[in-house]
Amino acid sequence: MEQVLRNFFLFLSKNKAFTKMARKYGLRFGAARFVAGETMSNTAKVIQELNAKGMDVTIDHLGEFVDNEAEAKQRTEECIEAIRVISEQQLHSQLSLKMTSMGLDVSEELVLKNMRRILDAGKEYNVFVTIDMEDYERCGKTLEIFKQLKSEYDGIGTVLQAYLYRTVEDIEELNAYNPNLRLVKGAYKESPKVAFPAKQDVDLNFKKIIKMHMLNGNYTAVATHDDQMIEYTKHIEKEYNIPRDQFEFQMLYGIRTERQEELVAEGYRMRVYVPYGDDWYGYFMRRLAERPANVAFVVKGVIGK
Ligand code: FDA
Repeated sequence: MEQVLRNFFLFLSKNKAFTKMARKYGLRFGAARFVAGETMSNTAKVIQELNAKGMDVTIDHLGEFVDNEAEAKQRTEECIEAIRVISEQQLHSQLSLKMTSMGLDVSEELVLKNMRRILDAGKEYNVFVTIDMEDYERCGKTLEIFKQLKSEYDGIGTVLQAYLYRTVEDIEELNAYNPNLRLVKGAYKESPKVAFPAKQDVDLNFKKIIKMHMLNGNYTAVATHDDQMIEYTKHIEKEYNIPRDQFEFQMLYGIRTERQEELVAEGYRMRVYVPYGDDWYGYFMRRLAERPANVAFVVKGVIGK
């Protein structure tokens, strides 16, 4: 049943008609639990509250799978505006974005142009930018563009997904760039030809890449809500004397808030991924796919209205 629900929500996450409707009607169906707001000004308040609790943030201006130049340009402007607000309001926040939002599916030339504008702003205002990783189809292209941009800018990182067979090789190859990487299990529906179908294999590979990247001496963001992975990271820290300023934990806004606070109290750097914007639908569907308990929460929200 869980697998059926997961596939159903991952299927819905790519529905263009629902995406458009969601933009029109605003945050609904309990999405506000996972999405901080529709505008940067609402979101700035959320960031301040998290910062006051000792947490760092990365904001994600929601948006993905853009198929035209005008929309990619608009998303680019919104990212640049977010960078300015972070700087003006002295928020402890980085920026995360998806390359399909910046025109990856339109042309490489367009995505590079938009990314360079964002990274110029990031450099000017000292705001670090992480490129989220999307589905397997875009993984190779995303990493090629990341390598190109990393040779031009310092303030850029990306994400690798433990469920992909290719990831161990990617960690090895990217080591030459000393990259700041966020490591995750992976959130998209992928074929067993490219990704481990069994959860225990994904977990094993996750541990493997955490260890590899930390021992390579590169900055590692372990992005998970899974206590087993958190404990494993702490074990590697102790076993190999990894300094605490070489890694951090990351979790999503609205998920395991108490655990986030505990990690801060233990002296770890904790970064909360805070999504905002009117393009919340695909993100929200992936969160539902991850955890059936979230569906019960939504049903309560809908019935409660
Ligand atoms: P998993 O889903 O296996 O959960 C493990 C355990 O965690 C559960 O058994 C439970 O104990 C606990 N848990 C999970 N959710 C909980 C909840 N709501 N309440 C209480 N306990 C809960 N993916 C991607 O493909 N590209 C990307 O760029 C990113 N970026 C990203 C950034 C950040 C900051 C995070 C945290 C995650 C991502 N992801 C992502 C998503 C990631 O790939 C993955 O889908 C989710 O993090 C879920 O996997 P977990 O590691 O949390 O474990």
